[in-house]
This record gives sequence, structure tokens and C-alpha cells, in this order.
Amino acid sequence: MPSAINKVVLIIGATSGIGEGLTRRIHAQGKKVIAAGRREDRLRLLEKELPGLCTVCLDISDIGNLPTVLSTILQDHPDLDTVIVSAGIQSYFSIKEGHLSSPSKIQSEFDINLTGPTVLSHLLIPHFLQREDDNNPSTICFIGSGLAFVPLPLMPIYCASKAGLHSLCVSLRAELDGTHVNIVEICPPYVETELDKSFRDEMIARLGGPEKAPKPMSVSQFLDNAMEGLLVGRSEIGVGFGQAAFDTWRKAFSPFLERFHVNG
Ligand SMILES: NC(=O)c1ccc[n+]([C@@H]2O[C@H](COP(=O)([O-])OP(=O)(O)OC[C@H]3O[C@@H](n4cnc5c(N)ncnc54)[C@H](OP(=O)(O)O)[C@@H]3O)[C@@H](O)[C@H]2O)c1
Repeated sequence: MPSAINKVVLIIGATSGIGEGLTRRIHAQGKKVIAAGRREDRLRLLEKELPGLCTVCLDISDIGNLPTVLSTILQDHPDLDTVIVSAGIQSYFSIKEGHLSSPSKIQSEFDINLTGPTVLSHLLIPHFLQREDDNNPSTICFIGSGLAFVPLPLMPIYCASKAGLHSLCVSLRAELDGTHVNIVEICPPYVETELDKSFRDEMIARLGGPEKAPKPMSVSQFLDNAMEGLLVGRSEIGVGFGQAAFDTWRKAFSPFLERFHVNG
């Protein structure tokens, strides 16, 4: 299988964690990289550090504005052929204790983790299909989560949104079978990033202290595995628990996937 990373790569959620790491690794391979996210100061710092890096300030949950933002990106970079969606947030709250969340927070978490990526793929796929041929493959890669498969209490919206994202990947991949548009899902385990920083101490305490709480994988160890999967062109790239989740799901559901002709 050819690499899932083609020539011109847009990374949404490039300002920290996994997306920032992917930006650095893919830039180091000499690819043209466009780094995107909301925090302009971090985009400026990356621009200074990584020669030739392009940046775009965007909010993936601003659904109404996505068509305009994407068409500007395509005007500036008509050869865009790879989009990695690493944007995501994770909230930690109890639905039982309703005061800790709000309808707008719930909406925002779904919009960032699921609706934005769905609308983006709706806008990108027809464009990629128009330009595809053997020499012009394209990739849309989503960062999912092992929690798509093992929903936890106190992260109900996050887990539901990642389950939705996994479902989206399988449906899109099945529909695009036979084309040169590749849908890739990366399923990380718990990785040491800013994702859970606002509630990490509380979570560790609830889990019984540092000895009992799960230990995150370093970003660089995660990236070693994820990059290997991308470079050999795998469409489901699990790391650690993420791979176990993919394997278990595939094993359990393959008779049904085959019956419904879902190769995705
Ligand atoms: N860390 C883990 O344990 C873990 C495990 C499984 C899956 N994941 C997934 O991995 C992805 C990356 O997360 P991370 O762990 O690297 O966390 P992170 O360090 O918090 O990075 C999240 C990224 O998402 C961007 N983002 C958030 N809201 C956005 C919006 N509305 N529009 C555009 N960009 C937005 C942030 O940039 P701005 O704030 O600048 O917009 C940031 O670059 C997420 O999808 C997450 O769910 C993480």
C-alpha cells in the first residue's frame, strides 16, 4: 500500500499534542504542510520554527463558515491532497450532576469532535473525487479514540462523539471503495497531551490515586507507531489499546460487515 501521506497536507488541530507532533514529523519529511487551529499565537510560533510551514487560523466547530474557509484553503493550495483532523476536546462531567455541564457545552463538544469533521468530509470528498486518478490519491485521516469502543462514565459526550466518528469512517471508507480517496482512522490509547489537563488531577483522585490511574503514553512513542501506520498506508491505525479495540470490533462484527458488503 502507498503512504497515506501524499504531497500537500492540511493538519487541523496542529497547535498542540498529537496534531502538533504530526505537523513536525510530516514537515521533517519535506512535505508541504498547512497547520491549522484556533490559537493564532501557537501557529505563529510554529511558523517561525518550521521553514516553509503555512498556517490557517480556523475553528472546525464554526460549521456555517467551513465552506468559505475550505474554499480559501483550496484556492491557496489547489494541490491539497491530504487532510488530517486532529482537532478535539474532552470534557469530564456527570450528567447526574447537571450543573457541571450545559446544553451549549454539549453542543460544542459534538460540533468539534463530530459535526465539524463530518461537514468537512462532505465538502472535501467531492473535490478529491474530481481530481483523483492513479497519480493523485488523496487521504482524509481522523484521530479517533479507543473510547469510541469502551465508553466511560463522566466522559459521555466525548465517547459518543468518537463512536460516531468511527462509524463515519467505516461508512465513508465503504462508500469510497474503489476510488483513490482513502479514509484513515487513527485510534490512540491514552497519550500525554493537553487534552485532559483541566481535569487530570480530579480524574486521578477519583480513580484512587496515581498508582491506580492509567499512565499516558508519550507523544513521541505514539507518533512512532502512528507514523509507521500512515507511511505503509494502513486505513485503521491503532496504537496499544487502540489496536486492541479495532481488532476486537472487527472480529466481532466481520460477519455482519461482510453480509452488508461493508469493506470499510
Ligand atoms: N491524548 C489522548 O489521550 C487521546 C486519546 C485518544 C484520542 N485523542 C484525540 O487526539 C486528538 C488530538 O488531541 P490531543 O490529545 O493532541 O489534545 P490537545 O493537545 O488538547 O490538542 C487538541 C487540538 O485540537 C485543536 N482544537 C480544539 N478545538 C478546535 C476547534 N474548534 N477548531 C480547530 N481546532 C481545534 C486544538 O487547537 P486550538 O485550541 O488552537 O484550536 C489542539 O491543537 C483529539 O481528537 C483527541 O480526541 C487523544
